[in-house]
Amino acid sequence: MIVLVTGVSGSGKTTVGGLLAGRLGWAFEDGDVLHPAANITKMRAGIPLTDADRWPWLRQVGEWMDARVAAGLPAVVACSALKRSYRDLLRAGRPWLRLVLLRGDGDLLTSRLAARHGHFFDPHLLASQLADLELPQPDEDVLVLPIADPPGVIAGEIMGQLNLAPAPGSPANGTPANGAPAHGDLP
Ligand SMILES: Nc1ncnc2c1ncn2[C@@H]1O[C@H](COP(=O)(O)OP(=O)(O)O)[C@@H](O)[C@H]1O
Ligand SMILES: [Mg+2]
Repeated sequence: MIVLVTGVSGSGKTTVGGLLAGRLGWAFEDGDVLHPAANITKMRAGIPLTDADRWPWLRQVGEWMDARVAAGLPAVVACSALKRSYRDLLRAGRPWLRLVLLRGDGDLLTSRLAARHGHFFDPHLLASQLADLELPQPDEDVLVLPIADPPGVIAGEIMGQLNLAPAPGSPANGTPANGAPAHGDLP
């Protein structure tokens, strides 16, 4: 199975996706690293990506997932997948894919982006991302979760809703790999 964590920039895809993967003992891949260099240059310059910019990137994300599944391995992948057409492309021929959308309002997203450092995304592009975002339709089977909760709570909710068990040795399983007592103050 591949769990695809979607949402606009600042919604927590990298944070929640990475945490979720850690708890599951699965690999985490950030779709940001699969962007063609030209897209990253545009985003750094504050220029919104067009559909034409995004198709090659989405195909790249799909190919990464296909290779992973062909190797018999699960993963958590972060990818904004803002529009229905993007999600349709990613889903086509991939029955093992489960989608999660992290959803928040503009004020909360803006404050999270303002507090985030060392990232190529220009916070002013948030408005264009929110304009591009098409909320999932009922037939899409996307798990939509609010972003106000702490990352650990959201990751736990995803595991519960998708019926995913923590990896043996995961802190969320109460049996850390190093044998030390669990501390119970997960983020
Ligand atoms: N649920 C959350 N609660 C509080 N802060 C969060 C939460 N999710 C993410 N953050 C913080 O918000 C910022 C954006 O999160 P990030 O994972 O980079 O979003 P994305 O990958 O979707 O662009 C980061 O500084 C991150 O630490
Ligand atoms: Mg990210």
